[in-house]
Amino acid sequence: MSFNILGTGSSTPKRVVTNNELSAFLDTSDEWIFTRTGIKERRVLTDESLIMLSKEACAKALADAGVMGSEIDMIICSTVRGDFISPAMACLIAKEVNPNCRYFYDVNMGCCGFISALDMADAFFKANKVKKALIVCAESITRLCDWQDRSTCVLFGDAVAAVVLGEGNSMRSIKMSVYPSYENLYITASTGNNPFVEEKFSNDYIAMNGQEVYKFAVSSILKDIHEVLESLGFASNDISFYLMHQANMRIVEAVKSRLGLASEKFPCNIEKYGNTSSASIPLLLDELNKANTITKGDKLLFGAFGAGLSTGVCVLEWCK
Ligand code: ACO
Repeated sequence: MSFNILGTGSSTPKRVVTNNELSAFLDTSDEWIFTRTGIKERRVLTDESLIMLSKEACAKALADAGVMGSEIDMIICSTVRGDFISPAMACLIAKEVNPNCRYFYDVNMGCCGFISALDMADAFFKANKVKKALIVCAESITRLCDWQDRSTCVLFGDAVAAVVLGEGNSMRSIKMSVYPSYENLYITASTGNNPFVEEKFSNDYIAMNGQEVYKFAVSSILKDIHEVLESLGFASNDISFYLMHQANMRIVEAVKSRLGLASEKFPCNIEKYGNTSSASIPLLLDELNKANTITKGDKLLFGAFGAGLSTGVCVLEWCK
């Protein structure tokens, strides 16, 4: 017995930042950003906290699922950086949702965090340890951007998206892959003011070699997709919708054209939110669920790539 997705919810910061606003203080333009990435605007955390957004996203997901907070046995929060370094976001979310829940973990897997969390949840459901779980992807990547670096800050946005899981058999396959290296995508951790460290680091901004990550993303995610489809005996056309990590429209286009599929199978919302790290796939899922674009029996493929460098693919059947 694994899981079904019972409900979805999301919450985004109120502040919308357009490409034109960025070009007021950076040497960039709406034309460059949109043609290279597909992004028009993103949401940026200002006076809100991630926990405020998480509370709202969880409430919406629980309402959509028809589940009470008190029924949740496990909370997994995917976040690169929560409101605090410690305690874990999952503990703060437990305070809002169900202080009596038994398991609470943060995972720090960047853009693959949603699929990592599903993978962990799968193991707990199979071990019969939980009956209902909440996955919350809470990302505030704009707090980790150097807003003077046009090659990175234009790409990211903030969001929280949550899914409620219950016992079921809709999950078909999950595959995570890691190609351990940090040189092309990393955020350094500060050494603090430790007097015994001679070479101190304080920079905690995202550093990325966009072209290398791009090449990695396209080749590695395609390899994983082919492997997962083959293991299930599915042709690429058997998947109703591919929900790809929303990092760059050109990456989605490249995957679509290599698989020889129609655009309708690749819903996107990158134009409105940019790259929201692990929140991007469940945020898109929530939009599709609320718009009734996905219907019972649809086969969904989630595909993510990012820091690690890592990729993750999950195929499941929509059962709501
Ligand atoms: N505005 C204007 N010019 C810019 C900007 C900008 N915002 N950013 C870079 N440029 C310039 C560069 O300086 C360079 O100029 P030069 O030729 O004079 O040196 C030129 O544009 C081309 O730069 P490239 O980096 O070659 O541009 P590219 O077409 O590769 O697009 C991008 C860059 C959008 C970052 C792309 O490489 C990409 O999307 N990569 C993948 C990123 C990704 O998927 N990350 C996912 C993981 S993120 C995570 O896990 C947290």
